[in-house]
Amino acid sequence: MDSGKIIDGKYISSVIKDEIREETKKLLFERNIIPGLAFIIVGENAASKVYVNSKGKACEEIGFHSITKALPETTSESELLRIINDFNADNSIHGILVQLPLPEHINEQKIIEAIDYKKDVDGFHPQNVGRLSIGQKCFIPCTPFGIVELIKRSNVDTNGKNVVVIGRSNIVGKPMASLFLRKDLNSTVTICHSATKDIKSFTSEADILIAAIGKPEFVKSDMIKEGAVIIDVGINRISDNTIPKGYRLTGDVDYNDCYKKVSKITPVPGGVGPMTIAMLMKNTLSSASKSVYE
Ligand code: GUN
Repeated sequence: MDSGKIIDGKYISSVIKDEIREETKKLLFERNIIPGLAFIIVGENAASKVYVNSKGKACEEIGFHSITKALPETTSESELLRIINDFNADNSIHGILVQLPLPEHINEQKIIEAIDYKKDVDGFHPQNVGRLSIGQKCFIPCTPFGIVELIKRSNVDTNGKNVVVIGRSNIVGKPMASLFLRKDLNSTVTICHSATKDIKSFTSEADILIAAIGKPEFVKSDMIKEGAVIIDVGINRISDNTIPKGYRLTGDVDYNDCYKKVSKITPVPGGVGPMTIAMLMKNTLSSASKSVYE
């Protein structure tokens, strides 16, 4: 097996976290600032709990201050807004992350817009979304930001390349397209989604394919171009009775089927996933050091 094909997100994210740890020490030494990140989680979503736990651990490892507010499912929208306002006003907090999804009775967009955009380290506030789309300084959503880092640190040439993104979510697909359009990456971008006709006609032209659809092993080898770079954003649980857990994690790409044809590919797990947390740490450090907004 040619392991040079594998984009090792676990390793790259550990290098980035080491860099952030060093910069965090410097920030404390030179300016007496400790980056602070507040997590808010509402309800009992098991996956959300795991994610918030991992993000909290990363803060600890890097030397950030973090607070987690775990609120019951019955929390009202007005109570949540009050908590966000308190964090907005708290000078020791540089980033606020409300874990999504929220319970049905809470208006998600209203909550996102209540966060001070200068502390919106998720990059979901319309102020950051808009600034990203017109190429201004802003917080970039962590998963697409992590993918850019994977691409850059793996020396993938993006200039004039055909990039196809499968999925049009606000968290991944749309910001991903904005980033590849920027002059520094300079790609030609296509977004495919559930209504796209003949998706294979697009994916088979992709020099770089980003799969973010949430369908296990959707991308097969007959859908990709020889030598393509494949970035798999999917994390799907599929049942597997041959292992004790009874399930395994798989991406949106049929990895074993595509491997022989690609020039580079991200594994699942260990590809995009660890990068998301690393970039959350990077955004929080940028917020604390006021390198995005004064
Ligand atoms: N839920 C799934 N991904 C994310 C993310 O990146 N940020 C937040 N806040 N919630 C999420």
